[in-house]
Amino acid sequence: MSGLAVLVVGSGGREHALVRSLAKSVSVSSVHASPGNAGTAILGTNHNVSVNDINGIVLLAKNLDIDLVVVGPEGPLVNGLSDRLNDQGIACFGPNSIGAKLEGSKLYAKEIMKSLKIPTAGLIVIENIERIDEALDTFSPPWVVKRDVLAGGKGVIVTDIRLDAYCALKEGIETDDFVLLEEFLQGEEASVLVVMDESGYVCLPASQDHKRLLDGDRGPNTGGMGAYAPAPIYTPAVEQRTISEIIEPMHHFLRNQDVPYRGCLYVGLMINSSGAPSVVEYNVRFGDPETQVTLPLISSDLGELLMACAKGRIANYNFTTYSRSSATVVLASEGYPEKSITGRKIFGTDTNIDEGEIYAFVHHAGTSISDSGELLSNGGRVLAVTGIAPNLITAIDAAYEVIRSVELEGSHYRNDIGHRGL
Ligand code: AMP
Ligand code: GLY
Repeated sequence: MSGLAVLVVGSGGREHALVRSLAKSVSVSSVHASPGNAGTAILGTNHNVSVNDINGIVLLAKNLDIDLVVVGPEGPLVNGLSDRLNDQGIACFGPNSIGAKLEGSKLYAKEIMKSLKIPTAGLIVIENIERIDEALDTFSPPWVVKRDVLAGGKGVIVTDIRLDAYCALKEGIETDDFVLLEEFLQGEEASVLVVMDESGYVCLPASQDHKRLLDGDRGPNTGGMGAYAPAPIYTPAVEQRTISEIIEPMHHFLRNQDVPYRGCLYVGLMINSSGAPSVVEYNVRFGDPETQVTLPLISSDLGELLMACAKGRIANYNFTTYSRSSATVVLASEGYPEKSITGRKIFGTDTNIDEGEIYAFVHHAGTSISDSGELLSNGGRVLAVTGIAPNLITAIDAAYEVIRSVELEGSHYRNDIGHRGL
């Protein structure tokens, strides 16, 4: 039997990681990416169809005779790509548009969590500027202000300054007619990627993202500046509570929908000092950069896992992992996340470490190839360098050794990725 033809939708570091692991899968014979980046072009074939062009992606999948479409970002899922592919009889890893509402609307996700009694932060919906002060009095600082829009992790403001919270709330109401004020959750965050369908689910090793721009968790929120796995904060006791209080009730809900959820449910957790987990957010896709640290820890065939999920047959899949640690450091463009400067030349991305149990390599994210064949920066997060080793400190060292050999004018990265895990 010939292997699977797989199309990965997206162009970031997450998609390079997916293409990389799929290209290694015995079950997969060809990998395509759309639009992909300079890294996915090395391992597969890129196609110039935007992630927002739903008709274009469906047509591409048909023309290429694709067996499985794996959707990276949330936008196309919220906009119905999975529904359209399923209508055409093409298997899709990623939920339909109703399942994707868990990420598309924070308010909807909160309502579902409330109905299922899943622990999460308290919430006030504010529609009227006159109600802002009263709402701010309800929670003690810091205040967490969220617009109910897709913002790639950058639409949240956490502040101790009442005036800043007030202004963010006012701006939210003026732009969207309503805004969300959330109770601040104390603790440490972890990301659990759960690959699920109606037959069952598998939890990938828990990881920890570094959302703030600067060392010491300072500066603005970003899409993610680095990650490591497994995250020691996710102890067996925390895992047990997360499964029984958060994952099981959500899986029960999602498997019983008219169209069951088939894809990755990203559970963003806050774990308090007594080990109690609460949900900060759900995403309906793999995390970025969590994917770059998590997929290399899977020892079973990724193509088979994603196909089993897309067909509703996860219960029959034998999921296995390596007992290793991994760390990813993101290299960002000058100006990220406010206003990234792109189009600059990048050197040194071929550097890697390959010492058997210890290895490190470069995931491309915002990269492209110029007409004259030069590698150029093409986005805010440009590269994600991953190190894998028998222990975390060695994995971190390997990632930093490789990232130091990359040259991109004005670029920056955090120097403390993985510090909480040590
Ligand atoms: P979100 O887009 O909802 O994932 O929020 C982005 C980041 O803001 C999270 O990863 C947290 O670091 C922070 N954050 C969001 N909501 C809360 C909360 N209720 N309490 C504490 N931190 C939060
Ligand atoms: N790293 C955070 C996210 O993927 O949403």
